[in-house]
Amino acid sequence: MTDNNFKNKMIIYAKSLNPLFLLKNANKLINPRRSLTVYFTKVKKVVRHNEKVSTLYFDLKIPSYPGQFVMLYLPGYEEIPLSLSSPNSVTVKAVGETTQALVEAHEGLSIGLRGAFGNPFSPSDKALIIAGGIGIAPMRYLYEFLKRCGAEVRMIYGEKSKDGLIWLSEFEELTITTEDGTAGIKGTVLEAVKKEDLSKYSRIYACGGWEMLKALYKFLKKADVLRKAEFSLERYMRCGIGVCGSCVIEDGLRVCTDGPVFPATVIGNI
Ligand SMILES: Cc1cc2nc3c(=O)[nH]c(=O)nc-3n(C[C@H](O)[C@H](O)[C@H](O)COP(=O)(O)OP(=O)(O)OC[C@H]3O[C@@H](n4cnc5c(N)ncnc54)[C@H](O)[C@@H]3O)c2cc1C
Ligand code: FES
Repeated sequence: MTDNNFKNKMIIYAKSLNPLFLLKNANKLINPRRSLTVYFTKVKKVVRHNEKVSTLYFDLKIPSYPGQFVMLYLPGYEEIPLSLSSPNSVTVKAVGETTQALVEAHEGLSIGLRGAFGNPFSPSDKALIIAGGIGIAPMRYLYEFLKRCGAEVRMIYGEKSKDGLIWLSEFEELTITTEDGTAGIKGTVLEAVKKEDLSKYSRIYACGGWEMLKALYKFLKKADVLRKAEFSLERYMRCGIGVCGSCVIEDGLRVCTDGPVFPATVIGNI
């Protein structure tokens, strides 16, 4: 696609957002977490981790905190939410058309980004990070952020099989789990969590599939440490700024603006 073509598509895209953003919701948009910034940038580097997962590095750093997400627009595809895996990257797993196109992306590709959106993880000095599958994406950003702040950080990272694990050399204190037993402890992340002395952590962070989060929720509740936990949730999203209602969960909470990071105590009934 030529630069002019891309610019035209971006103008149409930006205009299509205007009535929603500006006319009806001007008051809501004053909140800086509902940033109106739209970035037009290029993919600077692509790291293909495996057949299903790639990390795309952008030409710019997005002002953000770990746990926040961007709405990424690849011309010709749906705009989709993706967590930042660093201030200048997203890490994508192919599950459908758009994510597949992003996993196969090449350097120099033009993309649009809105954000960063949503509530980030809160900081802590003794952290246990629990990541399942592509849930590792925001957790890598969180890990690096907490380490830079001088925190003690332990990571538990689970995948179905060894081939799916990424970034293993980047984490100092790491326990791996695989469901098929090809690396680390056999089973889900819960098997590793059960072996931890949870009382020594000031915060427990989790991001992963819904089944994993449900099981973890039950376990942490029973262990009486739920108040220390923060979960990052995923829901289908359209606007990313609290307007369209497509990400509403229990009690009218919107994952895009009230989350995606929630205190675990808040999401008990989901
Ligand atoms: C806040 C947030 C952060 C996210 N961060 C990441 C990330 O860092 N990396 C990443 O790979 N993915 C992430 N996702 C999920 C990603 O947005 C979806 O995988 C993507 O929208 C699917 O688009 P698609 O067109 O490729 O697939 P579709 O054709 O739209 O869907 C393919 C399949 O994936 C399911 N699906 C679609 N969207 C979601 C969703 N939001 N949650 C769960 N299942 C979904 C569909 O039900 C369908 O079964 C995040 C989602 C949210 C809400
Ligand atoms: S995505 Fe529109 S309200 Fe959350």
